[in-house]
Amino acid sequence: MKSLLVKPEYSALRGEIKIPGDKSITHRAIMLSSLVEGTTLIKGASLALDCLNTLKAFNALGIETKRDEESLVVHGKGLYGLGEPEDIIDVGNSGTTMRLILGILAAQDFYAVLTGDESLRKRPMRRVIEPLQKMGASLFGRANGNYPPITVKGNPALRPISYHTKLPSAQVKSAILLAGLFARGETSVTESMLSRDHTERMLRYLGVNLERDGLKVIIQGPSYLKGREVISVAGDISSASFLIVLATLVPGSSLWLRDVGINPTRTGIIDVLRKMGGNIKIVGIREECGEPIADIYVEESRLRGVSIGNEEIPRLIDEIPIIAVASCFADGVTKITGASELRVKETDRISAIVSSLRKMGADISELKDGMIIQGGRPIKGGEVESFGDHRTAMSLVIAGLLAKGETKVSDVDCIDTSFPGFVETINSILDIPSIKLVEDK
Ligand code: S3P
Repeated sequence: MKSLLVKPEYSALRGEIKIPGDKSITHRAIMLSSLVEGTTLIKGASLALDCLNTLKAFNALGIETKRDEESLVVHGKGLYGLGEPEDIIDVGNSGTTMRLILGILAAQDFYAVLTGDESLRKRPMRRVIEPLQKMGASLFGRANGNYPPITVKGNPALRPISYHTKLPSAQVKSAILLAGLFARGETSVTESMLSRDHTERMLRYLGVNLERDGLKVIIQGPSYLKGREVISVAGDISSASFLIVLATLVPGSSLWLRDVGINPTRTGIIDVLRKMGGNIKIVGIREECGEPIADIYVEESRLRGVSIGNEEIPRLIDEIPIIAVASCFADGVTKITGASELRVKETDRISAIVSSLRKMGADISELKDGMIIQGGRPIKGGEVESFGDHRTAMSLVIAGLLAKGETKVSDVDCIDTSFPGFVETINSILDIPSIKLVEDK
């Protein structure tokens, strides 16, 4: 097992970095270019493990792909070109792969079984199984139908539905829209709050006629996708958020992050940090393949505590662990509520981050659906673990860089799930590289 040893020996943070491609957008780019007739180059794709699991899943469905350092080539076979997999498809740790792919498999005239790692096999799937069953597909899961492995026998004559999601989830919305691509007629999904809309944007970019009416999105099926030679993927704002928080809190820092996705359904982290007093500038807004991108400039700032509630959660759900870290260094109290979804992520992220930061010296406690942090208490460092969760691991490394003493974060292989090169990227902007990989016996 690998650990990271963090010694806050650096005295300055400056420079300019390019953040790897957005994980959510890359998943969609692979899936949708597999359904296009012809070849797509996905430039700036995320090569994180989760996305490679999507790639492998489509290979198993008969799609040929090629990858190099920062791009992917997908030889799509058209809307009806996927084939029955010969074996069980293991999608590792990736909830997005499993939930979205189920939407596509629901419409296929074949049988497939999906499984995942120990963490994914504990994550609820009823939220996608139920609407897809309503559309006429046969899906079965373990433990009363809620958990992987999931068996799917698709139905090529899928029925359109009009569905109201119980919780704002881009994965649920996307699974239904992907099934709706095949179902004859009008499929709609209505959310209570808008979740990330990358699927809608990419479907439109590929020529699908998609309408939005407030929180309702409507797709007409079957709808063929218009191939594009290139899909360019924006930098991942969720990965950027670790560096944004670090630069905000290191005295004298100044940092440029280039070509970062600033889709408004993802920028809750910027809004919250600004509300806390963060000095963050967004410069040169432009559009790439239907997604807004920009350069982000961050300087040291003095932060104060804030309240984050239900309404703000969908736009920053993946950033709550790093917001918790920032709050430990802010003046006053930060209260986060309405985030019970965090309990069913790669690990129970509320319990993981609260127990770890408390071990490092923070004044932080769990709420049923969030946490409460009294900022300003000295963070001394210590020995903590990732709980197998990439975002917990990276948040704790950032806390370690801001702590007074040394920190050891164990079980850090999981960082590659979303941000390969995380350690090298951070070390490259510090005057003294302060994170070291150690192999535990
Ligand atoms: C994702 C949606 C979110 C997010 C996850 C990625 C996606 O999950 O937490 O990391 O790419 O659609 P939910 O849809 O469960 O909120």
